[in-house]
Amino acid sequence: MNKPLIVFAHPLGQKIIEKRLGRRFQYQIIKNEGELKALLPQASALVTFLSFKVDSALLSGAPHLKVVGNYAVGVDNIDLQECARRKIAVVNTPNVLTRATAELALSLLTAVARHTVASDAFCREGKFTGWKSDLFLGQELKGRHAVIVGQGRIGKEFGKILKALGLSVEFISRKESKATISRKIKRAHVLSLHLSYDPSNHHWLNSERIDSLRKDCIVINTSRGSAIDEGALVQALKTGKIFGAGLDVYEKEPQIHPELPQLSNVTLLPHLGSATEETRQAMAELVMDGVVAVLSGKQPWNQVKVKVR
Ligand code: GLV
Ligand code: GLV
Repeated sequence: MNKPLIVFAHPLGQKIIEKRLGRRFQYQIIKNEGELKALLPQASALVTFLSFKVDSALLSGAPHLKVVGNYAVGVDNIDLQECARRKIAVVNTPNVLTRATAELALSLLTAVARHTVASDAFCREGKFTGWKSDLFLGQELKGRHAVIVGQGRIGKEFGKILKALGLSVEFISRKESKATISRKIKRAHVLSLHLSYDPSNHHWLNSERIDSLRKDCIVINTSRGSAIDEGALVQALKTGKIFGAGLDVYEKEPQIHPELPQLSNVTLLPHLGSATEETRQAMAELVMDGVVAVLSGKQPWNQVKVKVR
């Protein structure tokens, strides 16, 4: 009998794959669409990453698929309902990337608050010609108030970090009323988004909410770009309606709104939330463990729970 085939949409590191899979499975890392189409009909598992769409068209071409392993914690790239209907399990990488993502949010926050990226460019361009009392004045974080949107693992971890730095921290959960949300965000010196994205929170930070923010507010987004109306945020940054923003994710990723790179009050990163060596290794191991467990007839702890509609 043929060994079950695991198809990788992205290389995860040969050593990890081989160690995790042993001799019971065969695997292929695809290099292009053609290879994907050719291999999916025989695949028992598909390992994907966050910008790889798993929709009904793709699943129709994979009649033997038992599990999709997403090398990410967010699963908004996967049609979970369609997977559930087809009895395909989805596993992801929670926990292992919580700290790395929270630390990246901190790095964005301090960068925006103290203009560190713009000042670095200033030095490199040879513009530092002498100390000045008003050069790149920023904000001290201690004593400020942070509002964290989303009470998942990452939001809570970032909250702990901010409390340790002397900020007061308040959360907005999924169940909060519109009135409570507006009351809370109006007070935010820091508004940081950590919600797990789905169409119900598309443009959670819309133009009306952006308009209600304090003039000294810093917006941080390390979740998904579509949680913010990017056009409205650009307007607010351009007109100085808020102090600044730190973004790791974009609405039309990998495209960045053309006006964002021209603004000095925003720090832009290329979706690096979980990008530490330790975390990426742990994510690879976890996704592999989940895939192997499902293929061995078990239910791994990192299987995504889906409410079938
Ligand atoms: C990254 O954005 C992830 O969802 O893991
Ligand atoms: C991710 O791990 C989260 O729950 O925030």
